[in-house]
Amino acid sequence: MIRSLTPQSAAADGNALAAGFNNLLVTGGCGFIGTNFIRYLLNRPDFKGRIINLDKLTYAGNPENLRDVELNLPGRYIFHRADVCDGEEIDAIFSRYGIDSVCHFAAESHVDRSIRRPEGFIQTNIVGTFRLLETCRAAENFLLFHHVSTDEVYGSLGSDGLFTEKTAYRPNSPYSASKASSDHLVRAYHKTFGLPVTISNCSNNYGPYQFPEKLIPLMILNAREGKPLPVYGDGRNVRDWLYVEDHCEAIWNIMKSGRRGETYNIGGHAEIENIDVVNTVCDLLDRMAPFPDNNPHRKLIRYVPDRPGHDRRYAIDFSKLREELKWAPRESFPTGIRKTVSWYLDNSEWVARVRSGEYQAWIDENYGRR
Ligand code: NAD
Ligand code: TYD
Repeated sequence: MIRSLTPQSAAADGNALAAGFNNLLVTGGCGFIGTNFIRYLLNRPDFKGRIINLDKLTYAGNPENLRDVELNLPGRYIFHRADVCDGEEIDAIFSRYGIDSVCHFAAESHVDRSIRRPEGFIQTNIVGTFRLLETCRAAENFLLFHHVSTDEVYGSLGSDGLFTEKTAYRPNSPYSASKASSDHLVRAYHKTFGLPVTISNCSNNYGPYQFPEKLIPLMILNAREGKPLPVYGDGRNVRDWLYVEDHCEAIWNIMKSGRRGETYNIGGHAEIENIDVVNTVCDLLDRMAPFPDNNPHRKLIRYVPDRPGHDRRYAIDFSKLREELKWAPRESFPTGIRKTVSWYLDNSEWVARVRSGEYQAWIDENYGRR
């Protein structure tokens, strides 16, 4: 589906300049979506401000993703290593850089990790969001807190129906429960204190720079190395896949022109069973990077025991975003997945450094151990 540029979206573009996000704090900017968002925004003609990227650099944060930006655009991009749970440090960052707006990505984001060790999810996703909100509430002339959330807060769908903004929250994993809590806090700060906020609940993203613990990059990299491809349960769980750049565009549209205090669902209009996602990756690799003996990559698929509490199906109704802000995804799954597989094939050095933990050594050397 292609987004058509209408007079209304052109007007929205104009609003951005008026909106005056001069000192935008992006949290979690060294993670997958944050990296893509910073790259997207710095290329937008309607964003003239400066980005301050606050990231704790957990295992999922890789400052090398933005090294070229740091070198080439020193006046427009600043990296600051900090924990969103550290209220004093956040206050200091707000004063030092005159922060007037926030786009909040920082989170512990992997469901499987939340099942093994939920504690960090409660700290970062709930307490961290609370600390940030407290600082924003005290800031003068504050313009916007945009909260990046997930469709997983809505729980699991049966074989039909879609999540709308009115669907009741029924989170099933410690990850989704912690994100649900943070959504409620953001909403409450709008209702109680009048903080200007917007919230977006997005479906599963894929694309460049995704850490290879999530389904798509894990399958690409394991398949390349001839390693087993673990498919949970019967492989028929459904996710609604969205190419990451489409997510970035949707967030930016909401930040510019979304109604304050409102939630917008973002989806890819691409419901696919996990096994079909994995088969697609395998078939693309058969064509783009065949094994020397031409063995099909599908031979590596292994069904493994299911994830506890595994949500069956997610699917998003994004008609509110489409109708109010004229957004729709530009990429279809076939075009987006081809770009994604190509990116991982073309960026073998990034992959090698992430897999070997070399980037962690680079972080220790450049930013000190934590
Ligand atoms: P990610 O795990 O790739 O990146 C998270 C980033 O946050 C990392 O750079 C990490 O270092 C940083 N971080 C973690 N704890 C921190 C802390 N205490 N203080 C400061 N920084 C901290 O995650 P992602 O996939 O890029 O997701 C970003 C946001 O989007 C999350 O809020 C997630 O819930 C949401 N989201 C993700 C998806 C998806 O498919 N990946 C879909 C919908 C919503
Ligand atoms: P994931 O990428 O972890 O995202 P989420 O849990 O937030 O949806 O998983 C996507 C789907 O793929 C989910 O249904 C679980 C499944 N999955 C596997 O089958 N095997 C795997 O190795 C992984 C990581 C996920």
